Amino acid sequence: MSKTTSNSGTKKKFHLGWFTNFTADEWNGPFSNGGNSWDGSFHIDMARALDRAGFDFIMLEDKLAIPEAYGDSFESYLKLGLGMAPKHDPVPLATLMAAHTKGLGVVATMSTLGYPPFLLARLASTVDHLTNGRFAWNIVTSAENAAAQNFGLDELPPREKRYEVAHEYMDLFYQLIDSWEEGALVRDRETGTYVDHTKVRKIDFQGKYFKCRGPLNTLRSPQGRPTLLQAGGSPTGRDFAAKHADAIIAVENGIEGMKAYREDVRARAVKHGRNPDDIKVLFLVTPVLGETDEEARAQYERTAHDATFIEQNLALISAITDINFKAFDLDKPLPEKLVTNGEQGSLDKFQQWGRNKTLRQLVIEASGGICASIELVGTPDTVADQMEAAMEEVGGDGFLITTPALSTNRRHVISVTDGLVPALQRRGLVRTEYTHKTLRENLLAF
Ligand SMILES: Cc1cc2nc3c(=O)[nH]c(=O)nc-3n(C[C@H](O)[C@H](O)[C@H](O)COP(=O)(O)O)c2cc1C
Repeated sequence: MSKTTSNSGTKKKFHLGWFTNFTADEWNGPFSNGGNSWDGSFHIDMARALDRAGFDFIMLEDKLAIPEAYGDSFESYLKLGLGMAPKHDPVPLATLMAAHTKGLGVVATMSTLGYPPFLLARLASTVDHLTNGRFAWNIVTSAENAAAQNFGLDELPPREKRYEVAHEYMDLFYQLIDSWEEGALVRDRETGTYVDHTKVRKIDFQGKYFKCRGPLNTLRSPQGRPTLLQAGGSPTGRDFAAKHADAIIAVENGIEGMKAYREDVRARAVKHGRNPDDIKVLFLVTPVLGETDEEARAQYERTAHDATFIEQNLALISAITDINFKAFDLDKPLPEKLVTNGEQGSLDKFQQWGRNKTLRQLVIEASGGICASIELVGTPDTVADQMEAAMEEVGGDGFLITTPALSTNRRHVISVTDGLVPALQRRGLVRTEYTHKTLRENLLAF
């Protein structure tokens, strides 16, 4: 019996998320005319398509600065206008997308570096209400000096310190969220009581980094605790994710890397006393779809060799690692193994140290972004088969779909929602309708 087949003979389903951000949609490609929808209209269309296709969630990545890492300048980021800047706040957009959808979860990234815990807990609780329990917070600690410098610091604290602070942050977050017991809202006309004050308490939190009286002044949210996402790559980061996350998003090298990563975070979850099945690990992929396999392959090759795409990808990897990739020769291997206080996991996957590839080869191989755990190129049926085979090997729990260098147009979205997803549905691999109301329940449904 196949590993993705349950005892009842039906296939074990997997989850789908979409990875994007509040930047311009693709504005100058042959099938795009965007770049103007700062009122959220592009993202609303996209969310509706994903809702129709039964995605678990749409996730909005975020950063808190315009990067300068590539070429020590804002130039490439602003000139290209894709992926990194301008970038608007994801939280209001998440709320707007939820207002136009019925079952889709909406995920906004917020940094522990940027928000005081009280404000973040209050905002997460508020948005969870506005979305009727479909909100998730993607927990990040921020990984760039430029972001740290927007919040009064001279430079980014080391990774270990960021996670130490983040653990205490989470402790306070949970206490604030739980400062309202279930059932505190009574709306009892007879006694004239709206809220039972005995079910709301101060927390008087006093930690090493934070001090907070509490309670929250928002009602307990529909999910109790909004769903939590995280993307730890380092051992410390993975441990953090295994302790706190309902869903983990990751980019890994091939099926072996995906399997090892998933097993590692599941083992860490057990050490934290959690049931590993309560955590869904979703792997980043960039499907390239066509009407024939040949057409999809030709599209992939065109994208990967395009000069703008190469610049975009180098600017992107520079931004998330604080390393200036413009300083390296495109047609030589990197001169040394690179390390970063930023996103080391993404860097390691990109640099493939020891394999003697030129920088140009690295970008081309990472085609679809630095963001592809496995290559998915072909017709919807071909790619659906590839996804099924990958999940059989890895064991679960799904995919986080994105677009080359994070630049998106409607055609990308429709090719997935109206081509790939139906192919997956025909194979019984993904949901055909939402069975629950809240995001966490939908994630736990299989
Ligand atoms: C799929 C994915 C999405 C991520 N999204 C963000 C984001 O929106 N904002 C951010 O600052 N970091 C983001 N990160 C970085 C992670 O939060 C994390 O810092 C990174 O994976 C490196 O792991 P480490 O912190 O354990 O070194 C993302 C990483 C991955 C793999």
